[in-house]
Amino acid sequence: MERLGNTKLTLKMTNNNCVIYRCPSNIALVKYWGKKEGGVQLPANPSISWTLSDLHATTKVTRTEIEANFSRDIQFDFYLAGERKSSFEPKIRQFLERILPFMPQIKDFKWKIESTNNFPHGTGIASSAAGFGALALCFAEFQRMDFESKSENNPMRNEGEFLKIASKYARLGSGSACRSVYGEPGIWGETVSWEEANDEFAVPFNSEVHPSLKNWADVVLIVDDGEKSVSSTQGHDLLKEHPYAQSRYNQAQINLSRLLSLMQQGDVKGFISLVESEALQLHSMMMSSEPYYLLIRPNTVALIEKIWRKRSENQWPMAFTLDAGANVHLLYDKSYTSEVMNFIEAELLPYCKNSLYLCSDIGSGPIKI
Ligand code: DP6
Repeated sequence: MERLGNTKLTLKMTNNNCVIYRCPSNIALVKYWGKKEGGVQLPANPSISWTLSDLHATTKVTRTEIEANFSRDIQFDFYLAGERKSSFEPKIRQFLERILPFMPQIKDFKWKIESTNNFPHGTGIASSAAGFGALALCFAEFQRMDFESKSENNPMRNEGEFLKIASKYARLGSGSACRSVYGEPGIWGETVSWEEANDEFAVPFNSEVHPSLKNWADVVLIVDDGEKSVSSTQGHDLLKEHPYAQSRYNQAQINLSRLLSLMQQGDVKGFISLVESEALQLHSMMMSSEPYYLLIRPNTVALIEKIWRKRSENQWPMAFTLDAGANVHLLYDKSYTSEVMNFIEAELLPYCKNSLYLCSDIGSGPIKI
């Protein structure tokens, strides 16, 4: 196995027709919410996330050459946890259609895509980020192998270049997935605060993060495991007519710039309040969309208040954040693991559906298997 994002990748060329990648999910600290008009999956504001190393998808892609593909359709089968899943096919087809201009060879093969998540499906955690991250890495790997067999000068031999392409493909599947190809925090979207950042693909925040913000973990407290009433894609769409959209985009720019400084300086208090404010801003945009909607649940609020109370009593370095759902992510400094875990077991479990929570470290990237 080779770990990406942290160490140098050595190219292995064992089998040109089968590739397997494991890719983690991520949790945004500054949120992507809203898409630019006129592009494909271009963010209206910059975002940054931490990679959830222990919550991941593993995807195996096998290709078989098609003798004569007269229909010139994209041909694939998709399996999730060993079962054919036709409900996922439209999104995967859309992904393949979007990367086709960069990989015309997609039509020369029939693709078998087999994916599994190591977290239960339907826990409301961002399986699409891990899933599209892994899928994009597999397709980028096929492209790298094909280049390698045709040319001496394969630009994708360079790990950084390879990851940019994988990140771009992941974005075309699901925007937030593009940040998952790095172990380091991923920044996505144009901003003056980070020169390399752009809308096409995520880049790693490889500046020196202060040690006080380098050793954190996440516990996802599962509040609701049902289908969301409004999907993220629909939610992004509602920003088009949203009365506060422009203010939010401006605020996200400011927040990203502040967050990068806070992480470099190790200002943990500032980091906590910015991350929590971002989570609430995301949900306030949902509450003020037209039509308005609410994804948080009474137990989401109860958990947030419990976390606030505990922090004001003990000054533990921990923060909550939310994605587009009811679950609460409790981010904390790992030197407080036993205190935080005791707190969860003693006080937070009653608010979790079926007492379920998922734990993950932060900071390791994808692995080629
Ligand atoms: C709230 O990436 O799921 O998690 O690009 O339409 O697939 P699509 O949306 P998606 O949106 C995720 C939004 C978010 C915030 C974030 O991850 O930055």
